[in-house]
Amino acid sequence: MTASPSDRSDIKVTETGNSFDYSKPYAYEIKGGNRLEGDIEISGSKNAVLGVIAASMMVDGPCTLENVPDISDVHVMFELCRSLGANIEQVDQHTFKIDPTTINTYKASGQLVSKIRASYYLMGALLARCGKASIRLPGGCNFGQRPIDLHLKAFQLMGAKGARPSDIDSGIVNLTADPLHGAKIFFDIVSVGATINAMLAACKAQGKTEIINAAKEPHIVDVANFLNAMGARIKGAGTDVIKITGVPVLPGNFTYSIIPDQIEAGTYMIAAAVTGGDVTIHNLIPTHMEPLSAKMREMGYQIEEGDESIRVYKSSPDDEIYPTSVKTAPYPGFPTDLQPQTVVLLCSARGQSRMHENVWQNRFQYVPELAKMGANINVYERIAWVDGIDSFRAARVEATDLRAGAALVCAALAAKGTTYITEAKRIDRGYEHIVKKLSSLGADIRRVNIEDSYSEDTEA
Ligand code: UD1
Repeated sequence: MTASPSDRSDIKVTETGNSFDYSKPYAYEIKGGNRLEGDIEISGSKNAVLGVIAASMMVDGPCTLENVPDISDVHVMFELCRSLGANIEQVDQHTFKIDPTTINTYKASGQLVSKIRASYYLMGALLARCGKASIRLPGGCNFGQRPIDLHLKAFQLMGAKGARPSDIDSGIVNLTADPLHGAKIFFDIVSVGATINAMLAACKAQGKTEIINAAKEPHIVDVANFLNAMGARIKGAGTDVIKITGVPVLPGNFTYSIIPDQIEAGTYMIAAAVTGGDVTIHNLIPTHMEPLSAKMREMGYQIEEGDESIRVYKSSPDDEIYPTSVKTAPYPGFPTDLQPQTVVLLCSARGQSRMHENVWQNRFQYVPELAKMGANINVYERIAWVDGIDSFRAARVEATDLRAGAALVCAALAAKGTTYITEAKRIDRGYEHIVKKLSSLGADIRRVNIEDSYSEDTEA
């Protein structure tokens, strides 16, 4: 795909620096070409913390969460939990005390629910806590169909009423536990969300539950570890069979620290690589990064693993970068949430690479944006054929979703000239202090208010 000159329209910057205002439309302004160098710390995992916050709503006592990332999706999730009556107190930037014993409703049907996809975890959590849950379906969809049939199937097998798709009333799922009992649940598709939701509901169900063909993502293990710390009896999280023995009470009174964000870490590995940089990324779990590390080594990048760190660099600036083929898959396969950023990396190879998106139906919407920056990519159904280019060029582009936005940031850092990424709010939903972190590595990036509009939507 190539960009037409009209795609490169000018942007009107209205506010910068101290007068910058988050409540107004804004873009990232990135002057590319700086080599990233230095050290960076990874924050707590977005997908883990959203599951853990929802899980904390079904605990029978207070708990403290540490290493909570300071991102807008977390703020929305906390707001949603407060709207249920939960008491949430911020201790410091990354630590929160949560007291769910003050919850006074099983209904979450307002606009907040449709702001984040992970609000669907409140179905499992409130069913377990209140025996009832009345939750609005998360709205919008960014990369193809995002059904919740598997979540509902699990609740139905555990005896919940109102879990048939035909029971959904004006976009609201009304579930009643009658009561919930243990069940054997087989998922014919591996689903992160359905696995977590089934696990939540099963923790307080009567008897034993077995989830077969469960998802194995690191954040599934984190949610299970959190629940076990609160008093649940979950075994096998991280394998494809999870066994849960229901307990009547989850006492809580525990402090739990969220795991590092695998996707944030991968994004910085790619940003370092495409700028020809030398960056050591700390506070990550190297085994979580293996699918990406293996591909990057195959392409010719140097990846040096420490106990909790990875250094990314090229042994010489003239090292050849080789094309490769990547296929996304559930963990421990290649994460779909690193697919767009990896396509940017593939653009830096000499020759043609292939990216096969095997998880989501339609996750290449960002390709026309990348084409405006000079990328040469042809998409056929779920496969993108990526021809290597000498360099990206600056353009005005739009972050079509969170990870697509992260990919555009990587491309802009490597591009010659000044790139503006609009709808940057979508990126701030999942990357803690990204401007500060990249600036500390030598990037020239800032937020600027622009004359533009931002449409509310739902993220992964
Ligand atoms: C989670 C992540 C998202 C990531 C995805 C896959 C969170 C908040 N979001 O999303 O960033 O891209 O995992 O790693 O953790 N499916 C069904 N029926 C269902 C549920 C899912 O058919 O009831 C299908 C989906 O359409 C998709 C596949 O299963 O094709 C995987 O989706 P799933 O793992 O459920 O993704 P999420 O949990 O929504």
